[in-house]
Amino acid sequence: MKPIQPVRGTADLMPKQKSQMNFVIKKANMISNRYGFQEMETPIFEFTEVFSRPLGESSDVVAKETYSFLDRGGAGITLRPEGTASVMRALISNGLTQSLPQKFFYSGPMFRYERPQKGRMRQFNQIGCEFIGSLNPLADAEIIGCAYDILSELGILEKCTLYINSLGDAESRDNYRSSLISYLLEYKDSLSSDSQRRLLVNPLRILDSKAKEDLEIVQNAPKLFGFLTQKAKKHFDRVIEMLEKAEINWQLDEKLVRGLDYYSHTTFEFVTDALGSQGTVLGGGRYNGLSSILGGPKIGAVGFAAGVERLALLIEKTEDFKYDVALIIVDDIAETYAFTLARKLRSIGLRVDIPMANQIGKKLKRASSIGCSISFIVGETEINSGLIQLKIMASGEQKQIKKSEVLSFSKQYFNVNTKEIQ
Ligand code: HAM
Repeated sequence: MKPIQPVRGTADLMPKQKSQMNFVIKKANMISNRYGFQEMETPIFEFTEVFSRPLGESSDVVAKETYSFLDRGGAGITLRPEGTASVMRALISNGLTQSLPQKFFYSGPMFRYERPQKGRMRQFNQIGCEFIGSLNPLADAEIIGCAYDILSELGILEKCTLYINSLGDAESRDNYRSSLISYLLEYKDSLSSDSQRRLLVNPLRILDSKAKEDLEIVQNAPKLFGFLTQKAKKHFDRVIEMLEKAEINWQLDEKLVRGLDYYSHTTFEFVTDALGSQGTVLGGGRYNGLSSILGGPKIGAVGFAAGVERLALLIEKTEDFKYDVALIIVDDIAETYAFTLARKLRSIGLRVDIPMANQIGKKLKRASSIGCSISFIVGETEINSGLIQLKIMASGEQKQIKKSEVLSFSKQYFNVNTKEIQ
């Protein structure tokens, strides 16, 4: 029978990658905690409306990339393509709209039916922070500062550039829309069919188009930044002023519109050229309109999310899994003893392996290859005499120690602090 392959765009996270990803998630959680972001978790699937309403029916994510289906009860369900809409839905569902601000950290798998390539998966993981309940530009600066600190502590900040833009308020975008439409109408016939369709429905989305036919036209289009109202420009200037005082380097990218419909004012991305074409490691922005789209009150909010796999590809942490102790069984009689001793040693926090090879030499070889510092060699003779062979793997030195002292010796050898373990 042919072996079954994983579904296209999914990946098994094998121990090394998983440990790098856990490292990223732990760091991000710890650093965002310093800012007051507390971890929460939403379900992996939601009613389809949670995403179709705020992300925009015409956004690529909703139009082409969601995993949506009817469940057995006939309800329209979507696997979450991102976390922000779910977090806002959860805030409203949990009656927290009167207890603002709320600051959340989350991590977990997201699902997008995209064309898979390096750094782009159909199931991938994000970490994210959402600062909900403030219109103050200080909240934008706090969010960008937190993202910056996470990348910095992961040691990948030097590989990234921070791009920022402002999409202004509704009035700024209204002013801009008519100018953009009249520019694009001049090139209507040369635009991709998707963009032609979007021209009157959602022309701003065209700015985000990746279709070849559109690129040059979009490149020369008027920029929203020039149409910001005074109020919107003031918000942007305050954010920038704070970042500059904090020596956070940034660059203006007037084309940065982001792929989701809910943004207004600040949008930003940290981009690297170390990952090929999928260079955006972290993205976010302000989304003041999201709460009311989901049936809540008007709430100011800003946040970011980052791809955990992409961050893990950039970090240089390659710590191999190492054992501490091997129990080398000489004859079958010692198996039960070894099993019990291994459990005792594990209970004081040590990593213990019982090599399963059929020759002692091979067992000792495995003990070295899996990083054990010491081995205990046990057989019937050792058990009966009460004396066990100890082998220090690095030096090859071998000596006998009393069976009753194996635990206390190990504690001392590995400097185990029993209090820490409990
Ligand atoms: P996003 O830009 O769609 O924003 O995704 C954020 C990050 O997730 C990207 O920068 C990228 O690192 C990673 N990512 C996205 N798609 C994939 C994929 N197919 N494979 C691997 N990694 C991927 C959001 O999701 C917003 N919710 C961010 C946000 C939070 N805005 C405000 N608050």
